[in-house]
Amino acid sequence: MEQVSKYIKSNFDNYIEELKDYLRIPSISSLPQNKNDMQTCAKFVANQLKNAGMNKTEVIQTEGHPLVYGEWLGAPGKPTVLIYGHYDVQPVDPLDLWHSQPFDPVIKDKKIWARGASDDKGQTLIHMKAVEAYFKTVGSLPVNVKFIIEGEEEVGSPNLGIFLKNNKEKLKCDSIMVSDTSLQEPGIPTITYGLRGLAYMELELIGPDRDLHSGAFGGAIGNPINELAKIIAKLQDKNGKITIPGFYDDVKKATKKERENFKSLNFSDKKLAKEFKVKELQGEKGFTTIERLWIRPTLDCNGIVGGYTGEGAKTVLPSKASAKISMRLVPDQTPKKIAKLFTKYVQSLAPKSMKMTVKDLHGGYPIVVDLNDRSIDAAARALKAVYGKEVLFAREGGSIPIIVEFVKQLKAPTVLMGFGLETDNIHSPNEHFLLENFEKGLLSSAKFFEEYAK
Ligand code: BES
Ligand code: ZN
Repeated sequence: MEQVSKYIKSNFDNYIEELKDYLRIPSISSLPQNKNDMQTCAKFVANQLKNAGMNKTEVIQTEGHPLVYGEWLGAPGKPTVLIYGHYDVQPVDPLDLWHSQPFDPVIKDKKIWARGASDDKGQTLIHMKAVEAYFKTVGSLPVNVKFIIEGEEEVGSPNLGIFLKNNKEKLKCDSIMVSDTSLQEPGIPTITYGLRGLAYMELELIGPDRDLHSGAFGGAIGNPINELAKIIAKLQDKNGKITIPGFYDDVKKATKKERENFKSLNFSDKKLAKEFKVKELQGEKGFTTIERLWIRPTLDCNGIVGGYTGEGAKTVLPSKASAKISMRLVPDQTPKKIAKLFTKYVQSLAPKSMKMTVKDLHGGYPIVVDLNDRSIDAAARALKAVYGKEVLFAREGGSIPIIVEFVKQLKAPTVLMGFGLETDNIHSPNEHFLLENFEKGLLSSAKFFEEYAK
């Protein structure tokens, strides 16, 4: 291990250069115009795995973007870890808020800045390079390793789910390692044990068959933007509770012990408000910020479109308006049921004068992972050795819907060992990844392989 760590430290600058190459590929999974970039990026990942020393690597085509698979099974009698991650990234808009180009990575303030730096290219490269370091020094790995890196995590993993069902034997493993989450605080190694689920909806309201003069017709013909705004406003009450009938029916109450445990984390509301320059935090009444983020479901409008949005004023009564609305879910809510309840409720709120369409864009189940497994213990020992601090077990508010499918299909536990930070600006302008976490991640991954073999 000593050799491996030494090798990682002395090659760190090269890893940064390779991460830059990875980040230059604009692998935005949701945009049709980036389809070819997804192929390029998949090839890049497959190449990384091959050069790292995996003795079987494949780019697997799907109905959507390709999957990348790699394996090395040269440690008979030792456990097999399946490393999961994603090479796709979120769109970059609004572009004018970036301080540097999203696909032209720069190093500044001990961070690497680019779309995907933290979510999830930096974090996937960690494991590829840790594997490579073993082959370049020891010549082998202490455990068997498989990789499955997908290009559709940011759009709900529609094809990996199918692949999983049909390839249980190929992906068979003793544990699933995922680095796509965050440290609770800088310098505090964290294993995440819970993630929220998601129901993502699109709502469209259509009024008159064309845009109209707002003076000639305003007051006589209903305005879809006005009505859509009213509908959205009705989805939450003044206490921040979601008003959709039945919405909370399946929400599992957190145990007293867990809530007490949250309190001991000494989470600072002030610090969070200061970080994002808001006067104060806001959320569901009766719950602390940690609870609002980790164990309570939420509803957010992600985008709203309609009418005239150009410069200056244009007096127009628009023909239509639309909104994208997501709900984060907690155990035991299910995305299908929530999507149904949402649809029924918003339809009941639509004015008779307009046509409403509701689309269920995608969804995912929430998860709480079992911490009783030797792979979790191994990860905790590895993180402690590298960060020199006791590991914190935390839940998080984001979602990685495919994890539930992994656990279900492969019957293996999951280790959520992430190296991002809450302040990395994932999905937002100026995404970055702390170089210190990149390096500590590399060392932790390498140490994990050693600990897991014990
Ligand atoms: N890395 C995130 C998940 C995440 C975010 C975990 C924040 C913990 C904290 C992942 O890439 C992601 O963004 N997932 C999507 C899933 C969705 C598109 C189905 C999300 O949470 O919005
Ligand atoms: Zn993401």
